[in-house]
Amino acid sequence: MSRKTPRQVNLRRAVVQTLESLESAGVKQIDRKLAAKLTTPAAKRGESAKAATARPAPPRASTAPPSASRAAPPAPAAPATPAPRREKDISWSGAALPLAKRVDALAVVQTEVAACRQCKELASTRTQTVFGVGDPKARLVFIGEAPGADEDQQGVPFVGRAGQLLTKIIEACTLNRAEVYILNVLKCRPPGNRIPLPDEVENCRGYLERQLQIIRPEFICCLGAVASRSLLDLQLPMGKLRGNFYKYGDANVLCTYHPSYLLRNPAAKKDVWEDMKLLMQRMGVKLP
Ligand code: URA
Repeated sequence: MSRKTPRQVNLRRAVVQTLESLESAGVKQIDRKLAAKLTTPAAKRGESAKAATARPAPPRASTAPPSASRAAPPAPAAPATPAPRREKDISWSGAALPLAKRVDALAVVQTEVAACRQCKELASTRTQTVFGVGDPKARLVFIGEAPGADEDQQGVPFVGRAGQLLTKIIEACTLNRAEVYILNVLKCRPPGNRIPLPDEVENCRGYLERQLQIIRPEFICCLGAVASRSLLDLQLPMGKLRGNFYKYGDANVLCTYHPSYLLRNPAAKKDVWEDMKLLMQRMGVKLP
């Protein structure tokens, strides 16, 4: 039998991950159009896929199960906070996609990510790309920085020590990982867990933006400075960023400390809990 090239291995992984996320979203059959999309030349080449985005959507399915928990009362109006500069570039106009189309659109982006080689160093050192996990209709998306060693091995974001702490934070909010969506600014692990380089963030930005436009969360929680700066284009320190809601597209964005920072500075856990209480209050999620 012929030996598989690394590219074929990566593609195979992407297809398996795609099928798993389809399955966990309740999809039992894949239609021909999706299969065709997953094998487009652009997807195979891993081109930065500004072109292939979510298709225009029919009206949002009203029968879809509520995500990120409990039927929420309408959120009170957001206090005025300086709008991030990037906001005007982000258009979430048009109707949101129903679940099956979101799964389909995310699968397309995931396949492109798996084949991406824009960052030469990351592409040659990663075990695999780490796309994102959770409910494609989540009301709340958590954005981290980049995969670490455990995530690089498992292909799932936030599964190492910091990830376990994030899981506890989510559960303390009476939610669980399956009803939110978790992703990173970078989809590849930087060697030695170094901070992502500006070029790497730029190369990956299109994927992040497309993920968010497909999911269209009502709320985004940026974990740490890299996620906050990358999404909002604000250079404020976390101490100044936290405690306010910002806008990205139609989403209300709250920034807080990264779980890895909490592992090094447990005293900051109380600040994160204050931030989570604020976020849950805005989401209409009642805490015990
Ligand atoms: N830190 C991150 O920012 N993301 C992960 O997925 C894991 C650790």
